Amino acid sequence: MTKFIDIKGVKHAYRTKNGPLPVLDGLDIEVPEGTFCAVVGPSGCGKSTLTRLVSGLMKPDSGAVVLAGEEVASPRKTVGMAFQNPVMLEWRTILQNVMLPLEIVAPSMAKAEAEGRAAHLLDMVGLKGFENKKPSELSGGMRQRASLCRALVHKPQVLIMDEPFGALDNFTREDLWQTMRDLRAAEPFTCVLITHDLRESVFLGDQVVVLSGRPARTQYVLDVDLPADRTIDILYEPKAVEMLHLLRDQIRMAQGRDGDMH
Ligand SMILES: Nc1ncnc2c1ncn2[C@@H]1O[C@H](COP(=O)(O)OP(=O)(O)OP(=O)(O)O)[C@@H](O)[C@H]1O
Ligand SMILES: [Mg+2]
Repeated sequence: MTKFIDIKGVKHAYRTKNGPLPVLDGLDIEVPEGTFCAVVGPSGCGKSTLTRLVSGLMKPDSGAVVLAGEEVASPRKTVGMAFQNPVMLEWRTILQNVMLPLEIVAPSMAKAEAEGRAAHLLDMVGLKGFENKKPSELSGGMRQRASLCRALVHKPQVLIMDEPFGALDNFTREDLWQTMRDLRAAEPFTCVLITHDLRESVFLGDQVVVLSGRPARTQYVLDVDLPADRTIDILYEPKAVEMLHLLRDQIRMAQGRDGDMH
């Protein structure tokens, strides 16, 4: 398969008043088109920095981020993003919040078509009937579902998520993993997910990239050889359990000590 996202030898340091803070130190990640890449690594190693580079919000000091054959040098309209705490416009309805990217990326799209797309996605994630509610009327899990719809409504080439499910309880999180799986099955997209949750990385990922401690480099890449239509039960099967142990060991190595990631 072709490399859709190609992160090649990326190095980056922040300029701070105490001098440069090296954060990424030779990152190499290849994500084939339509696949899901989960990224794990110790806290503070540079994962959110990586999302800023892939989305074009920042340029690396050296190396390159190539998206669909083109080097990323500025923010892309073809990238969708979802974060831990979804920011919603509280005065707009859920439907209007989901439609927002279309107003920016495709301002000439007919309103009925935009509404149709947003409503279809909301239906897919189980939010049919909530289109006209305000964000404050939704639970955390429902807001996150709506934010996934918003990230996908303009059919981005790439979806980048930075710990989108981190603030949710375990059962809601598992529900959302399955929603994610179904969204991908309905309309494939390429995805980079930053997570602290190893089970999440194995359930959702086609590959799991382990970053070393800061300054981060690619420490290990796990090929998640499990069926695409996996269910939560698969996480209890020997093959997945073995992967989780392996990732756990890798995280320990990355932390350089006994860590507390789950
Ligand atoms: N704008 C910035 N200016 C200076 N330093 C920064 C900036 N953003 C992040 N850093 C530093 O860079 C390092 C990596 O930050 P980053 O947010 O990428 O880590 P992370 O892996 O996402 O962490 P976490 O797992 O806690 O979310 C941290 O030491 C952080 O303090
Ligand atoms: Mg982060």
